[in-house]
Amino acid sequence: MRIVTHPETMRDLARRARRSGESIGFVPTMGALHDGHAALFARARGESRRLAVSVFVNPLQFGPREDYARYPRNDLNDARICRWSGVDWLYMPTAAEVYPPGFATQVTPGPMGDVFEGEARPGHFSGVLTVVLKLLETVRPDTIYLGQKDAQQAALVMLMVRDLDLPVHVSVCPTARERDGLAYSSRNAYLSPEERARARGLPRALKAARQAVRDGADSARAILAEAKRTLTREAKPDQIDYLALVDPRTFQPLTRLDGRGLLIAAVRIGRTRLIDNMPLNAPRSRP
Ligand code: PAF
Repeated sequence: MRIVTHPETMRDLARRARRSGESIGFVPTMGALHDGHAALFARARGESRRLAVSVFVNPLQFGPREDYARYPRNDLNDARICRWSGVDWLYMPTAAEVYPPGFATQVTPGPMGDVFEGEARPGHFSGVLTVVLKLLETVRPDTIYLGQKDAQQAALVMLMVRDLDLPVHVSVCPTARERDGLAYSSRNAYLSPEERARARGLPRALKAARQAVRDGADSARAILAEAKRTLTREAKPDQIDYLALVDPRTFQPLTRLDGRGLLIAAVRIGRTRLIDNMPLNAPRSRP
């Protein structure tokens, strides 16, 4: 595995691989790697001749009240996980290289960038799309791999790729979960044992809603009521930031599930904010 810090070197390595006809898979990350990332690497490794992973804590996607300086960083462990995962190029640029003095241009997401996660974190998705665009320009992969856990981010990247005619395929991979169902996240480490036990209530609530759909529920009200009942009972969240049934491509709320829907949730357990989601499909025919 080669660790690359300069954008020009990364660009050059990828260019040479492309010229030799090698396909490139790319997974962007902010480091603090865990098994959820490893699952993305495994998927990308299996589908591409070359695998590039970026570790870059992107200052542009942190709000003024979010602590960029305290975001967990563990370069040695990240490099170890990448090595085990068969990564060819670990790209770790500095902030000054990605955003040199005078940097001023940013991608503005459409309305989907202002709801749910975008409403809770103003400017966040502009920062995400800007860095993803810059990373795509540097690596020029055939496929970028993103996790379904950050469903709104993935939907916004897909829209940017379509709207700006970017020559890359976006592969959104299923959420990797711990044994008890909790989605892998670097934030899980902040949970106390008691909070960790409550946090399981979040995926259980999503599953309860999926069961309700299988049992015939199709109104958003019924589906959300089932999710909220289980969430309140099992997770005892300190706050529910949102719990909603949306169209997975636009994040517009649905009143009825008659095709594909996405149940999304953001809750606070103690001081930790967790997000998760569950794709829901209306059964094709109902009696
Ligand atoms: O999901 C993340 O880790 C980040 O938002 C991403 C896509 C690497 C952009 O900084």
